[in-house]
Amino acid sequence: MPIFFQHQINEFTRLGVWKIEETEDFFKRNVPAHRDVTHPHKRLQHLAGRFLLQFLFPDFPYDLIQIADTRKPFLPDERYHFSISHCGDYAAAIVSSKSRVGVDVEEPKEKILSIVNKFISAQEKNIFGIDDISTTGTNFRTPTLIWSAKESVFKWYGEGAVDFKQHIQLASCKKSEEAITCFFAKTHASLTIEYRIFDELVLTWVVGDV
Ligand SMILES: CC(C)(COP(=O)(O)OP(=O)(O)OC[C@H]1O[C@@H](n2cnc3c(N)ncnc32)[C@H](O)[C@@H]1OP(=O)(O)O)[C@@H](O)C(=O)NCCC(=O)NCCS
Repeated sequence: MPIFFQHQINEFTRLGVWKIEETEDFFKRNVPAHRDVTHPHKRLQHLAGRFLLQFLFPDFPYDLIQIADTRKPFLPDERYHFSISHCGDYAAAIVSSKSRVGVDVEEPKEKILSIVNKFISAQEKNIFGIDDISTTGTNFRTPTLIWSAKESVFKWYGEGAVDFKQHIQLASCKKSEEAITCFFAKTHASLTIEYRIFDELVLTWVVGDV
């Protein structure tokens, strides 16, 4: 199954998640290699992420992609803003001809519980109802969602040096809208992070100006 989830976010912005079931040759036929990746599965993920860019916007110019010092890939002429994520057998990409974007996919894993205090503030624990997380040890989907949301903001910003607790402040979670409101303290931007929770995957994305 190739495309796992696809979403036209607005007139200018598209998102896709690919479930990787193809061989490396399939992607290599369609995507020029941009950097050497030694590990075979990581190479497959990398190629699938790149493949999605033209899947979403067929005129996406692969040959113009550059890599910043922060390792963020970008187009110097900003014809498109884009962001890529991969996890397990999934790759995700978001592309916009207008706004900065960030995307992240994560597989919920219990080991995230050991680092919740590094990236979730006391206020966020209240908002998301995870006060007793360290004692129950059972709810790891919500911390995964919060981690993913903050990774999306990190990628959207793209300039590094972000403290997840101090700079990315999640202010509310509207479950019916699958949306989280966020204040990004580095630029004083108010953002909306959208999300979807699937059986084995958490997907988040953000679109907006810095
Ligand atoms: C860079 C980072 C976001 C990558 O995330 P990851 O979960 O390892 O990997 P993902 O698959 O989700 O994303 C990888 C993609 O992100 C993109 N990327 C890499 N560096 C990036 C950056 N600085 N900004 C935006 N995007 C970046 C690339 O497209 C990369 O894929 P590619 O090389 O195949 O093109 C992550 O390693 C990181 O540094 N996170 C911040 C950690 C942090 O500061 N935590 C503080 C905790 S308190």
